[in-house]
Amino acid sequence: MTITSPARVPAITRVPRVRTYAMTPPVHFTVQYAINPWMDPTTPVDTDRAIAQWLRLREVYEALGHTVHAVDPQPGLPDMVYAANGGLSVAGATIAARFAFPERGPEGDHYADWFSANGLGPVHRTDGIQEGEGDFLVVGDRILAGTGFRTHRDTHAEIAALTGRPVITLELVDPRFYHLDTALGVLDDDLIAYYPPAFSPHSQAVLAELFPTAVIATDADASALGLNFVSDGHHVVMTDAAPALADALRTAGFEPVCVELSELLKGGGGVKCCTLELRGTDEEVDVSSA
Ligand code: ARG
Repeated sequence: MTITSPARVPAITRVPRVRTYAMTPPVHFTVQYAINPWMDPTTPVDTDRAIAQWLRLREVYEALGHTVHAVDPQPGLPDMVYAANGGLSVAGATIAARFAFPERGPEGDHYADWFSANGLGPVHRTDGIQEGEGDFLVVGDRILAGTGFRTHRDTHAEIAALTGRPVITLELVDPRFYHLDTALGVLDDDLIAYYPPAFSPHSQAVLAELFPTAVIATDADASALGLNFVSDGHHVVMTDAAPALADALRTAGFEPVCVELSELLKGGGGVKCCTLELRGTDEEVDVSSA
C-alpha cells in the first residue's frame, strides 16, 4: 500500500519593490467644506493629531525602504494632504490634476509646479477633469480608470494618449466610494482587491473577467476605507480598521502593516489618498532582504 502524504501548499512569495512617493503634510488640514459624504464641516478636526498620524505613515514607508518626498502644503487648501489626487506619474509621463470642485482647483497648479521643480517634467495638463491617482490606478502595464463622481469619462482617452497605455474605464455608483482608490486597491502588477457593489454591473463584470483571483472586501472593511491601501508587492500599508481584509491579504501571501489615520478619514481619505507614487524616477530594486 502506498501512503501519500498530503500535498503541501507552496507558500506564495510576494516580492516587494522599492517605491518613491510624494506626500503633503496636513499642516493646513481642516474640514471646512463638504465635497464627499464623509465630510461634515461641523465635526471638529484635530490638526496636530492628523500631523502625528501622517508622520507615522511616512515613517512606516521609510522603514520599509521606500523614499518619501514632501510637497509644500499651501494655506487655504486643506485637502492638499490627499496627494494621490495631485496627478499621475508613470515612466515617460507626468500629468497634473484638473479638479472637479473649485475648492480644490488651485491644487492642480501647485502639484504641477512641484512636479516640474522636482525633475518630473515636462508636466502635462488634460483638457478634461481628472483627479490623478484618486481615479487612475496603475496595474502592471494597464491603467484602471474611475468615473462617475469626479474624473470625467472623456478624460480617460486623454490619459491613454498621454501615457501610451491601455486605460480601462470603471464606473463608480456609490457616493461613499467617489474615487476609484476608495473602492479598489492595487496589490501587485496583476492582482487587485476591490468592493464589487461600488461599481456598475458592467464594470463588475469587467473586473471579474480581468482579475478572477482578486481579493474581495467585505462591506464593513470597504466602509472603513480598507481598500485605500498602498502595496509594495509584499507589504500592504492599510488602515487598522479593516481586520477581515487584513486577514484575507495575509492568506493571499501579503503582509499587512496597519496604521491609524482616523483624523484624515474625516476628509474622506485614507492611506492611499495621502500617497502619490512617482514612477520611473528610480531603478526598481528588490528590497525583500532589507
Ligand atoms: N476631501 C477630499 C476630496 O473630497 C478627499 C480626497 C481623498 N483622496 C483620494 N485619493 N480618494 O476630494
